[in-house]
Amino acid sequence: MNSSYFNSAAGAFLGILFVLMTLSIVSEGIYHAPEPATEGFAIEVAEGGGDAAAPAEEAAPELIAPLLANADPAKGETVFKKCAACHTNDAGNANKVGPGLWNIVNRPVATHADFKYSAGMTEFSQGGSVVWDYQHLSEFLTAPKKYVSGTSMGFAGLKKVEERADLIAYLRTVADTPAPLPAE
Ligand code: HEC
Repeated sequence: MNSSYFNSAAGAFLGILFVLMTLSIVSEGIYHAPEPATEGFAIEVAEGGGDAAAPAEEAAPELIAPLLANADPAKGETVFKKCAACHTNDAGNANKVGPGLWNIVNRPVATHADFKYSAGMTEFSQGGSVVWDYQHLSEFLTAPKKYVSGTSMGFAGLKKVEERADLIAYLRTVADTPAPLPAE
């Protein structure tokens, strides 16, 4: 056996050994993932029963119904001046920047025949199955863009619940037959 034959045989042997060892280390890594310290998945639960740790929730919207009985439609007519730039309030029901508001209470959302509503308002209407009842009107008029995302109504909103109650009591009268007031 000359030395060059020995060298290449040894080289081949070492090469094979190296490949085998590498495979063994790699497969060890793949098939023997270290055991987790605890079984199963860790699910983080905030201490304290939930509520306290839950992300700050928005305050529930104020209910408008209890305020309507004592609301003042005459004051509401004054508030309507903020709307009149964009909305008519007579039986002609003509559109301006916004749709005519005749018979608005309990009218299905986005159904004035001649008005081109925004995609946001159309979606909110759910095919006309959502109506402008007192509570929907109140929440929409509090913050229009927040309540109906994508609405084209450029109006900041009426934050005072009494002001909304007066206005909605007035809107109720802007109709062929005013909708009944909610039962107390
Ligand atoms: C700057 C113009 C503008 C002002 C001011 C404005 N609106 Fe609107 N309003 C619109 C537009 C535009 C729409 C249609 C919105 C859409 O399609 O997203 C609309 C839609 C509405 C709707 C939905 C009507 C429907 O047919 O579904 C109601 C209700 C409404 N406005 C009430 C009011 C009231 C009440 C006020 C006053 C507090 C007011 N708006 C102020 C422009 C205005």
